[in-house]
Amino acid sequence: MSTSESQQVTIVVTGASGLVGSAIKQVIATEPLDSPYGRRRGERWVFLRSTDGDLRDPAQTDAMYAKYKPVAVIHLAALVGGLFNNMRHNLTFLRENLLINDNILWSAYKHNTKKVISCLSTCVFPDKVEYPLTEAKIHLGPPHSSNFGYSHAKRMVDVQNRAYKEEFGCNFSSAIPTNVFGPYDNFDLEDSHVIPGLMHKCYLAKKNGTPFIVSGTGKPLRQFIYSLDLAKLFIWMLREYDSVEPLILSVGEDEEISIKEVADAIVREMGFTGEYRFDTTKSDGQFRKPASNAQIMSLMGGFKFTPFDVALHETVKWFEENYDGARTGFKNSATEGKRAQPKEPEPTPPSSPRADSKALNAST
Ligand SMILES: NC(=O)c1ccc[n+]([C@@H]2O[C@H](COP(=O)([O-])OP(=O)(O)OC[C@H]3O[C@@H](n4cnc5c(N)ncnc54)[C@H](OP(=O)(O)O)[C@@H]3O)[C@@H](O)[C@H]2O)c1
Repeated sequence: MSTSESQQVTIVVTGASGLVGSAIKQVIATEPLDSPYGRRRGERWVFLRSTDGDLRDPAQTDAMYAKYKPVAVIHLAALVGGLFNNMRHNLTFLRENLLINDNILWSAYKHNTKKVISCLSTCVFPDKVEYPLTEAKIHLGPPHSSNFGYSHAKRMVDVQNRAYKEEFGCNFSSAIPTNVFGPYDNFDLEDSHVIPGLMHKCYLAKKNGTPFIVSGTGKPLRQFIYSLDLAKLFIWMLREYDSVEPLILSVGEDEEISIKEVADAIVREMGFTGEYRFDTTKSDGQFRKPASNAQIMSLMGGFKFTPFDVALHETVKWFEENYDGARTGFKNSATEGKRAQPKEPEPTPPSSPRADSKALNAST
């Protein structure tokens, strides 16, 4: 994808207002020109969100491709929701994500886009599976029933990519990140991912002089990837990876950390000195679900991940500095009525999760 300034090529990132897209935007803006993760000479990067076009709508998706003529797309846009949101609206999560992904890939094919990297999630993996998760295990059984709509829509992208390759020779692939955290996350209190949710709780406990209570025993283990590191892995995939096989983007299995370690680090970073305890009456969820990053590490020849404490420090700092503007489930384009409307009216489900929910950002 190397080119001179006179032959400008466009790379589009969909869903770029979110946690992952904001990180890619920051890396592209700050890494030196022509460096491994920086913008290359002759590249124009376009970062889109739902107000730039509703990707559920084929006409708006096609118009986006016609306008920007992207040579490549990093496709992050998705209807993403918390666990409870997913459980209540499996059809909506299935349908909206199927529509978005089908439109993105079909228009990419029609407009001769050379490469699409779509973003999946570890929820695509079977509920009952031998650990660690590897790329070869995606289709070995049904995903967990709680968010089967979202999981099946994401899993289907891998099937679509293979079909496009087989029938039309397209270079479409997918990435599977583990739990992501960083600036611009959704810090909803009720239904967000573990790190932003705990940060917000601790922040309020400190501010209000109330106890900081963590749900569960704190013993489960998870792999967390810093959004800025994930951004670099996406950029690497865009530049160097031309296989249809999905890639797990994660820190190593040896870097699993417990929820207690996460909570301890947040308490430390926020300088919280009040009462801090675990509510063991609340469920822990799965004890661990390790994923192997061996495939991407062998292809890249290694990668220096940001140490967890450093990444957490940066995220806490960002959250404290941006508290008033930080995203929660209440603040999103759908609830604020900013989402671009499909050209043809569509039937609205009785209660759309984007319109009525407090939490829109916890899927893994
Ligand atoms: N966060 C994680 O831990 C995690 C883990 C694994 C995988 N992922 C995947 O990573 C990707 C990005 O996640 P994220 O956490 O950055 O998501 P996010 O913060 O919730 O952002 C979602 C993005 O999608 C856009 N979007 C939603 N519906 C759209 C539509 N109909 N048309 C056009 N754009 C639409 C949103 O635009 P508006 O802001 O304008 O609404 C936003 O830019 C997703 O595909 C997600 O499944 C995330």
